[in-house]
Amino acid sequence: MDRVEALKQQAGIAACKFVTSGMKVGLGTGSTVKYTVIELGRRIAEEGLAIVGVPTSLATEQLANKVGVPLVELSECSHLDIVIDGADEFDSNFNLIKGGGAALVREKIVAQESHSMVVVADERKMVDVLGAFPLPIEITPFSYQATINQLSSLMNCRVNCRMSGDNPVTTDNGNYIADAHCGPTLSNPIELEIAILKIAGVVQVGLFNNMCDVVVLAKHSGVEVLTNPDGRLSD
Ligand code: 5RP
Repeated sequence: MDRVEALKQQAGIAACKFVTSGMKVGLGTGSTVKYTVIELGRRIAEEGLAIVGVPTSLATEQLANKVGVPLVELSECSHLDIVIDGADEFDSNFNLIKGGGAALVREKIVAQESHSMVVVADERKMVDVLGAFPLPIEITPFSYQATINQLSSLMNCRVNCRMSGDNPVTTDNGNYIADAHCGPTLSNPIELEIAILKIAGVVQVGLFNNMCDVVVLAKHSGVEVLTNPDGRLSD
């Protein structure tokens, strides 16, 4: 396992300390939170942890089934206790860019229904200003080039339709992903989120503002737990 992969594993496993029996747990998507799902499966099998999970993607659903995390539909739950998910970037205000894995819509719905959000990340994800990672935006296939043009003119940057070979990447919801290449300039993600969501054709944007309570951050020097002072898990 290379060093970055080892950091992802450390963060993913360390975040499981926030999960206790009886919880309803949102299960994020990606190569870091994968280790959280695997560890939860181990604790269920070996330690009798009693939880149910709600997956944020078909990929996570398959993984949870494989490692033995029982799943329920979000509509069966009045709320979730916690969601654990990855991020592509986070800033010092605990605002996030997500959607690198094209799961941002389900991730945001699950985060919205959760009483707390824990992000698992390695140190490459911590930034001063969001935007070096191209901002993912889920858009409708209908007239998607017009939506991309609107986004490009709003953000004054290049916006590409994410491709897989010759075809647009299709999300679990049957939509496309536009990636906005703004560079590290998104110093007001709250206003930007509102403006992007006004564009017809936009389904959701991968800015997760005021949602994250804790980042479990794996660095080469060890795992740190960063607590959002304005969040729901601060003392
Ligand atoms: C998927 C996501 C992921 O959580 C994000 O891309 C981080 O993934 P990884 O842990 O693989 O870097 O938002 O839509």
